[in-house]
Amino acid sequence: MDGRDLVRSARTVRAVGAAQGWLSVRSALRRRRADAAGLPPRGAERARVPGTAVGAEPQPGGGVVRFARSSLRIRVTAGGAVFCGWDGAVPEPSYALVGTGPEADGRAELEPDTEGGWRVVSERVTVAVSRYGAVEIRTPGGVVLRRELPPRWWDLVPEGASGRDAVPGGGPDEAAAPEEGARVGMYGESRWVQRSEVAADARFFGLGGRAGGPRLRGGTYRLWNTDPGGAFGPGDDPLSLTMPVQLVVADAGTHLVFHDNSWDGRVTLHEGEEGRGSGHDRAGSCELRMDGGPLRYWVLTGTPARVLHGWASLTGAPALPPRWALGHQHARFGFGDAAEVRRVAAGYRARGVPLTALHLDIDHFDGHRVFTVDRTRFPDLPGLASELRQEGVRLVSIVDPGVKAEPGNAVYESGAAADAFVREARGREVRGAVWPGEAVFPDFTDARVRKWWGGLYAERLAQGFAGVWHDMNEPSSFAAFGDPTLPRSARHALEGRGGDHREAHNVYGLAMARAGYEGLCELRPEERPFLFSRSGWAGLQRYGGTWSGDVASGWPGLRASLSLVLGLGLCGIPYSGPDIGGYAGVPSGELYLRWFQLGAYLPLFRTHCAHDAGRREPWEFGEEVLEHARAAALERERLLPYVYTLGHLARLTGAPYVRPLWWGAPRDRGLRDCEDAFLLGDALLVAPVLEEGTRRRAVRLPRGRWYDTATGEAYDGPGQVVVEAPLARIPVLARAGAVLPVTGADGGIELEVWAPAPGRKGGGIVVPDSGDGWERPCVERMESRWEAGRVVVSRADGEPVEYGVRIRGDGDGAEL
Ligand code: NOJ
Repeated sequence: MDGRDLVRSARTVRAVGAAQGWLSVRSALRRRRADAAGLPPRGAERARVPGTAVGAEPQPGGGVVRFARSSLRIRVTAGGAVFCGWDGAVPEPSYALVGTGPEADGRAELEPDTEGGWRVVSERVTVAVSRYGAVEIRTPGGVVLRRELPPRWWDLVPEGASGRDAVPGGGPDEAAAPEEGARVGMYGESRWVQRSEVAADARFFGLGGRAGGPRLRGGTYRLWNTDPGGAFGPGDDPLSLTMPVQLVVADAGTHLVFHDNSWDGRVTLHEGEEGRGSGHDRAGSCELRMDGGPLRYWVLTGTPARVLHGWASLTGAPALPPRWALGHQHARFGFGDAAEVRRVAAGYRARGVPLTALHLDIDHFDGHRVFTVDRTRFPDLPGLASELRQEGVRLVSIVDPGVKAEPGNAVYESGAAADAFVREARGREVRGAVWPGEAVFPDFTDARVRKWWGGLYAERLAQGFAGVWHDMNEPSSFAAFGDPTLPRSARHALEGRGGDHREAHNVYGLAMARAGYEGLCELRPEERPFLFSRSGWAGLQRYGGTWSGDVASGWPGLRASLSLVLGLGLCGIPYSGPDIGGYAGVPSGELYLRWFQLGAYLPLFRTHCAHDAGRREPWEFGEEVLEHARAAALERERLLPYVYTLGHLARLTGAPYVRPLWWGAPRDRGLRDCEDAFLLGDALLVAPVLEEGTRRRAVRLPRGRWYDTATGEAYDGPGQVVVEAPLARIPVLARAGAVLPVTGADGGIELEVWAPAPGRKGGGIVVPDSGDGWERPCVERMESRWEAGRVVVSRADGEPVEYGVRIRGDGDGAEL
């Protein structure tokens, strides 16, 4: 046990209680035993680098460059995405990609350069490969965005072979080139490292949900989805949703790089340093070390919007949540019974605080068993659901993957009959410890098991639930020491290829989300599913969103929750949000309120907390907090048409609802370093209060005119201004010219138009949404401009504007 284990063990016992404590010891011991028997010792390894280029074969979109001891496949796609695969790696199979990946750009050709290397020139990007295997990604103008140095592998020396016989050719770095077209995974056991360089001014973002961002500073970030085992803060890493996706923003351009490899790994980042004109810049660098799996990656270049669009084309459009899932939702671990649920719903109603959903945690299950109901405390769940539904409140159910392993538990028995559970290398079911006690884990990497699991959601629908909340799916298994998950040697189907948990771990939550999403689509085809999941990987957005997990209550936790939402959005997962108030502990009224006010501008707007935490209903913090929280929730309700328009736009373009300030101006270095404010769509700039006692705050503005939406005061960016941030509200600024759909007095859509700066134009988009179906969205583009001293709004397609219009800002109907 090391120090980290002791901390984890203490946290685990605190979080799960002493009764579970001994189970977590047993499960950790079992995991260790399973791995001792099921994972062969690593044995001898031999280092290898590609060596020199010996030839190349053109193929559509690029080709294969052969080196003495490896090969590199390059494919530029029609959309400008670049694929690089070493050692025979091809894009498929992949858990991240949709379909078979994009088409090759037929016009991009592999050609020799004058220095013994090769290059592929395409309209949007140039890929240059040196004769030793360094790869440069350049803009069409020739500026280098990223330089990958030749990779290095450590191949296992086959047992029985030793020294020079181990590898034909003999000598260090003299291993033979793996066969062209080798199946991905064949070299799964080779560890590898790749170092890359980016511009000295570059900033790193992404890598999934990171509490210490959104700008990822120098340091090492692990790629292994991990239940932090208790409330976490900005210093905790990794968390439940990691992914090898980085967004790199520099003056020279923005690019996204995705290493399509689900194994455990570590990314070490160093931000560069500029020599301030001395000519001695130190490049930024990234070193990626993986414990196995293919060395293949994608690079997308362009503006942030273009890059995210390309990412959504590669890995799938984000699922659109039903409209009600964009309203205010309330959860807690420890709703005692149906009466308490009713009481909370009635409390919201009585106090005029909007509420669209209540989430039931594991305590409504019978003994924490998934897909069951404690009938003593919830005797008529369908009745409760329909009663709440009439008041506009949906019920959402938690769903955990761990199934209590006991005879008589119908889910266990049907899963066992279907051979659905993950097994150890020696064939026994893997037994871990989760909330219900000793548990087994469905193998979601098996299509057959996904189908079986998806069918189980029929029970949830019959209970009246409108959506699901996937939890504990890193997968998490309480462990008194070591890794709180399944044994690395555990066997998985991996879509028929077969493999172990080292490869399946990071995609477990993603595959579970697929099972749930597909099950819900089949069971209730007329409604779009509402699903969000604690763990996931690249591509999770196809099935739903995520949330912060157990973020610690405290001002650092508030900051961490914003970091998570921004970082996840830049990795293509646009729908997420924190536990408002923090998961554990008792926030002060001020902290709770500031969290609530921030949450009102995030896609998932949900209060939630642990069973032993203080209450999180807004009226529990006194009259003043209630009044301001009500105002924030009402403002969210007013902005709902704008928020669901952003949901549609995320689906259509991949752009997250919540964007960093540099989204439209990635070359503005001040904005690149600004982490305490964000854009909600194009129109609003939200500046949350992240520190105790703050009543005014500095806000950095992108170029253009911005109005303080509370005071109407206009400011001209770029630059920094100080604005009022009273307890009653957080500063929100509107971009001059913006046209936002909001809820009008009659409940329909009204256009809120912020006057363009004199002589300028503006605009916005409206996507009306009928609620929770699949209708094709109709995208209406609005334009705003000054005409004869008045602000006018029209539709870009010339059709009449059918909504009421309210002009705000300098316009206010008056002549300038
Ligand atoms: C862990 C989740 O992160 C938390 O939100 C939930 O309340 C508990 N599990 C209990 O289900």
